[in-house]
Amino acid sequence: MDGNGRWAEKRLLPRSAGHEVGIRTLRKVADKCFERGIGVVSIYAFSTENWKRPKDEVDKLFGLLKRFFIKELKHMKQNGIRLAVMGDLSAFPADVREAVENALRETAHNTKYVLNIGLSYGGRAELVRAVQRLTAAGEAPTEAAISKYLDTAALPDPDLLVRTCEKRLSNFMLWQCAYTEIYFTDTPWPSFGEKALAKALEEYAARTRKFGALS
Ligand code: IPE
Ligand code: MG
Repeated sequence: MDGNGRWAEKRLLPRSAGHEVGIRTLRKVADKCFERGIGVVSIYAFSTENWKRPKDEVDKLFGLLKRFFIKELKHMKQNGIRLAVMGDLSAFPADVREAVENALRETAHNTKYVLNIGLSYGGRAELVRAVQRLTAAGEAPTEAAISKYLDTAALPDPDLLVRTCEKRLSNFMLWQCAYTEIYFTDTPWPSFGEKALAKALEEYAARTRKFGALS
């Protein structure tokens, strides 16, 4: 969800206004994806590197995320959306963690869609956690075993990664995106609407995926 700050600055608004609109965009875009038959939507909401931001911006983000998990619960329950989280929640303030854990519990039996949110998430840290778990379990480090111990264990690898505003992975789902199609757009996240999503999906549909084979 990149470009919240730029979106706000361009409008002479505080960065937090960009984050507020960005969270609204998250709900809208996720629902549009589900409507179009995409079963799993993963969102990068807060990275392990985002802890380097000023405390008041981090606090503001936590406040918005907490509200999101409380406010969206009913919608998720009514629409069969299961919440999943990747990342290390342990560093989060207790009230935010509680809101997340409550939403995880309350949506655990939903089976139609998955909304997977990265919170204090980094692909490298996730891989380290997976290897630690695997070692503790005494298992051999095969690809299947590593995948099983990632935070995304139960989820398929992403087909399409949409990156707004930047042209890099920024530590996002490094293992899972091995063969993911990447779509870059200059549209900042708060402006990423139905039309922008349709364009990304159209471009994705036109790509040929051979996963390293010839056909
Ligand atoms: C992404 O927008 C939102 C989060 C990191 C949560 P940014 O805040 O990185 O927006 P820019 O990069 O300053 O425009
Ligand atoms: Mg940014």
